[in-house]
Amino acid sequence: MKELNIDITLCTTMKKKPAFDRLEFGRNFTDHMFIWNYSVEKGWHDPRIVPYQPITLDPAATVFHYGQSVFEGLKAYHTKNEQILLFRPDQNMKRLNRSNDRLCMPQIDEELALSALQQLVSLEREWIPTEEGTSLYIRPYMIATEPYLGVSPSKAYQFMIILSPVGAYYKEGINPVKIAVENDYVRAVAGGTGNAKTAGNYAGSLKASEIAEQNGYSQVLWLDGKEKKYIEEVGSMNIFFKINGEIITPELNGSILEGITRKSIIELLEHWDIRVVERKITMDEIRQASIDGHLEEAFGTGTAAVISPIGEFLWKNEKLIINDGKIGRLSKKLYDTLTGIQYGNITDPFGWTL
Ligand code: COI
Repeated sequence: MKELNIDITLCTTMKKKPAFDRLEFGRNFTDHMFIWNYSVEKGWHDPRIVPYQPITLDPAATVFHYGQSVFEGLKAYHTKNEQILLFRPDQNMKRLNRSNDRLCMPQIDEELALSALQQLVSLEREWIPTEEGTSLYIRPYMIATEPYLGVSPSKAYQFMIILSPVGAYYKEGINPVKIAVENDYVRAVAGGTGNAKTAGNYAGSLKASEIAEQNGYSQVLWLDGKEKKYIEEVGSMNIFFKINGEIITPELNGSILEGITRKSIIELLEHWDIRVVERKITMDEIRQASIDGHLEEAFGTGTAAVISPIGEFLWKNEKLIINDGKIGRLSKKLYDTLTGIQYGNITDPFGWTL
């Protein structure tokens, strides 16, 4: 494993840490951050850890105008025996480079970026909360910094990593959420940027989420951008269904994000000899399964929420209630196993934790 040689400037006064038993998602940030610059002339240069601080950018920086921006999200976990574990960070670095490629941004050395991440997390280890269900959320991201208003790939970039001690993503925690099926807005289209983790996808999703929330729903279910027929994602998560004993998830089609939790769930179920069917699935099919009493479970998967069971879909004024709005057995078992591996309470048979 390669190691990045980083220049480190420590802060002189440490921040007061928030109460770790009352953490919100993504509100507090640690004492230090990592920065690495890129220019076409110099390549990647000046990797440094500095006190967490505002950054200065030219007002004409490409990121502000044409949105060249990608990010990742992963977590560091505190184990009972004082170890720190990262969950599949290599997968995040791989996906970061796939997103970079889609947005015409430079590739980053995955091993060196991971080395930077490990060094920053190790420096900030006091910030990894120990309370149940908490962790240190890691946000690596890259932005285009060249001051230029022509529409073309920037010639300069900044890669950064910030850290945030977090609690549950949804206020419901592992309790089932209510989801409104979105029939007007779409998140992504075939050939678009749906499978890249780029800022614009999230900006474009806000309107529908806001309307859903006003109507008492936690998030929206996204349908495909062409026919608004096929299920794609739920909120900022991938989605799984258990229908008549069969586990189904939408197949990766270019507009769906390749979730690392999604991949891990599929591999975990296969390890249990349960086959996951990756295929197109329509909302009509879900409605029919619900009417027939075959819709046993539905859940979203993502780094932030891990597993988020779905208790209700609202679709065209009809409410489809799943498992009486209660958490399903499989969702619970998957949540317990995955978090068990992440927190080091269960032996990791896959070598996922680092
Ligand atoms: C995830 O859960 O994987 C996410 O990407 C959510 C994040 C945008 C907060």
